Amino acid sequence: MNQQKTRTIYGRRQSRPLKDNQKNLFETLFKAIEIDPLNLPEFPNEVIFEIGFGGGENIAHQAQKYPNALCIGCEPFVNGIASLLQTIEEQKIQNIRIFADDANILLKALPAHVITKGFILFPDPWPKKRHHKRRVVCLENLLQLHKKMARNAELVIATDHPTYLEWIVDITAQATFKNHFQAINTLECPRPSEDDIPVTRYEKKALENRPGAFLIFKAI
Ligand SMILES: C[S@@+](CC[C@H](N)C(=O)[O-])C[C@H]1O[C@@H](n2cnc3c(N)ncnc32)[C@H](O)[C@@H]1O
Repeated sequence: MNQQKTRTIYGRRQSRPLKDNQKNLFETLFKAIEIDPLNLPEFPNEVIFEIGFGGGENIAHQAQKYPNALCIGCEPFVNGIASLLQTIEEQKIQNIRIFADDANILLKALPAHVITKGFILFPDPWPKKRHHKRRVVCLENLLQLHKKMARNAELVIATDHPTYLEWIVDITAQATFKNHFQAINTLECPRPSEDDIPVTRYEKKALENRPGAFLIFKAI
């Protein structure tokens, strides 16, 4: 596959240089658990899929909470992947696979209806109007995700950013979206428990200023 033609990643790929132990983890653990869209594994009954896992706090938590699930995390940011690799090694987590690129590339390759839970937590807000088209949450991406979600599978979308929240509310109010998803957790609902969704690095940063909204939808 020519990934250059299909990928749409706008954020940075790396910040600090990797330390030697992190480089070693990329050479060993990452190679063992990287997921290849052209050579997909067997999918168990439970598949948890996260778009933009950042430092991996949520996907690591889900993997430990649901040891029988296959947890697939997508994240192109190298330092975030390095953090998750360290957690996987330290906690001896066995059920995580990583895709280090645009989640849409992997989504397109997945068979239909395999995902039983999806997460998009604190996606980059791209606040400038001319950058709104970069937002990961858009109707096209959500419909693509829906094709790969099992019936009744839940999708959690969280943001602390007021204009991104308005954007998400507008999209999820559209008839096309409502033909595919039903809202379970609306703006009025409290944050899910930390046992269900841990506080991620971005939520922690955001909490210093404003609480996040957690919207939850069910695929129909
Ligand atoms: C603001 S961070 C939030 C990270 C994490 N979810 C958290 O709550 O701490 C958004 C992340 O999404 C990742 N991202 C952006 N576009 C993506 C895409 N198309 N596929 C997968 N990840 C993406 C970015 O690299 C970034 O790390």
